[in-house]
Amino acid sequence: MICFFFYALWVWALPPQQAAEHPVALAADFDAAQCSECHAEKQQGKHVHSAIAMGCTACHTVETKGETTRIGLTMPAGEICLTCHEQAKAEKDGMLHRPYEQKRCVVCHDPHSSEFTAQTRAPMNALCLACHKERAEVGESVELFAGQKLSGEEFNQIPKIGLDATLKFGHPMGSHKVADAPNPLQAGEKISCLTCHENHAAAREKLIRTTEYKGKKMDVCDACHLANDEANMAEAQKRADELEAQRQKEEQMRSKQPSTMPQKPPRPKDKKP
Ligand code: HEC
Ligand code: HEC
Ligand code: HEC
Ligand code: HEC
Ligand code: HEC
Ligand code: HEC
Ligand code: HEC
Repeated sequence: MICFFFYALWVWALPPQQAAEHPVALAADFDAAQCSECHAEKQQGKHVHSAIAMGCTACHTVETKGETTRIGLTMPAGEICLTCHEQAKAEKDGMLHRPYEQKRCVVCHDPHSSEFTAQTRAPMNALCLACHKERAEVGESVELFAGQKLSGEEFNQIPKIGLDATLKFGHPMGSHKVADAPNPLQAGEKISCLTCHENHAAAREKLIRTTEYKGKKMDVCDACHLANDEANMAEAQKRADELEAQRQKEEQMRSKQPSTMPQKPPRPKDKKP
């Protein structure tokens, strides 16, 4: 009972969530539409989060008392995201990727804007490799993106994959490519971690994708290898057709021109003894 009382007091004193003193004091009647006078970059970039159009106070609290302004979040970061986005559910969508399950959305996504699809904090495959590649040194903590940190202990528990020094091949086996090669399943796209893995949740183990190829659901490995074989076959057929067309053209030319080739002398008849 008493515990609850103090807990309630503590929680009472806490909101607005993690409110920090803003380096600049803002007038008590400051219009949040003006935040971008100093923070314009939050609305700029190749991929701007649609929620930014709803104003900074869709997610931030602003409180000015006397000479200090405190700015925080309306609720913990991950919870904020789930007020507008539905989270996949294990029962329905299969296994969840741990950081997604833990609602660490802002580890991978910038809540405002970024240069990459879905406002990710880094391009593929660097985003995934920040956690899934061994590092030369792991101290108390490792740095992820935008100054975010993960404890060394937590980092060491994450499974790592082995790649060659260029980070282009060596996973899931042999010298299989993971980057910088055309993706036969998506014209114009390159192969990446997301070609084989889901980012949030998957029905199959190890977050392996299920793909559709020519209207049939199948394993991503089979789908891509089929597409690759068919592309190779089509390529081989095209080359064969070209060679045949060229051969026919040459033959036609030859039959039109009087032959200039020296004729072989008639073969002397075998003299039979
Ligand atoms: C007069 C300029 C100015 C205005 C107006 C302004 N800011 Fe800031 N803000 C800064 C500066 C400078 C910093 C520190 C450097 C940085 O993080 O960009 C900062 C830091 C922040 C931070 C990180 C530190 C913290 O307090 O948690 C947040 C969040 C933030 N501003 C939100 C806002 C919001 C929301 C508004 C509008 C209500 C706003 N700012 C208006 C100048 C401004
Ligand atoms: C969709 C929700 C959302 C909206 C809308 C939003 N923010 Fe944020 N903002 C966040 C979250 C979540 C964080 C904390 C990120 C973290 O913990 O890494 C944050 C952090 C910040 C920070 C400090 C860290 C950083 O990324 O620089 C600044 C400054 C900031 N916001 C400014 C703004 C301004 C200015 C606006 C309006 C133009 C705005 N935000 C609108 C969710 C939002
Ligand atoms: C106020 C509502 C709101 C909040 C809060 C919100 N979002 Fe969104 N978000 C949207 C809307 C609207 C869209 C555009 C429609 C869509 O793609 O669903 C969007 C789109 C996105 C996209 C897809 C962008 C793209 O290019 O496909 C990502 C990623 C995203 N939000 C991440 C987040 C994260 C992370 C948070 C928490 C920090 C968050 N959102 C919080 C409303 C919100
Ligand atoms: C491990 C990194 C990671 C985490 C953690 C993560 N995401 Fe994503 N998310 C991605 C990537 C990568 C994409 C882009 C997928 C693509 O391009 O196909 C994405 C796409 C999205 C999209 C747009 C496409 C869609 O699925 O609708 C939304 C919205 C989104 N994430 C919201 C969230 C929310 C909310 C959370 C937290 C509960 C979260 N993400 C956690 C990596 C992550
Ligand atoms: C913030 C760190 C972090 C980032 C970034 C991250 N992951 Fe993970 N990933 C984890 C953790 C934690 C686990 C769970 C490990 C465990 O089960 O013990 C995991 C597990 C996995 C697994 C194995 C799932 C299983 O069944 O064992 C795969 C595959 C995976 N991640 C792929 C990705 C891909 C693809 C990306 C980029 C879109 C990515 N991860 C980005 C932290 C991360
Ligand atoms: C060609 C398909 C393919 C690509 C591309 C791919 N993976 Fe995988 N990945 C797999 C398969 C298959 C497994 C399961 C292998 C096993 O269980 O031995 C796996 C397993 C994993 C695991 C779990 C390892 C473990 O020990 O549990 C992680 C983490 C992972 N991949 C991350 C990544 C990251 C990060 C990338 C991008 C750099 C990536 N994968 C690219 C197919 C792929
Ligand atoms: C995005 C397309 C794609 C996906 C998905 C894919 N592969 Fe491949 N794989 C290739 C290509 C391209 C080659 C090279 C084949 C060639 O030279 O014609 C290859 C080669 C291979 C090889 C030959 C040996 C080697 O190390 O290069 C094996 C074995 C293989 N893949 C297994 C798999 C398995 C298992 C999976 C599923 C986890 C998978 N592949 C998923 C495209 C893919």
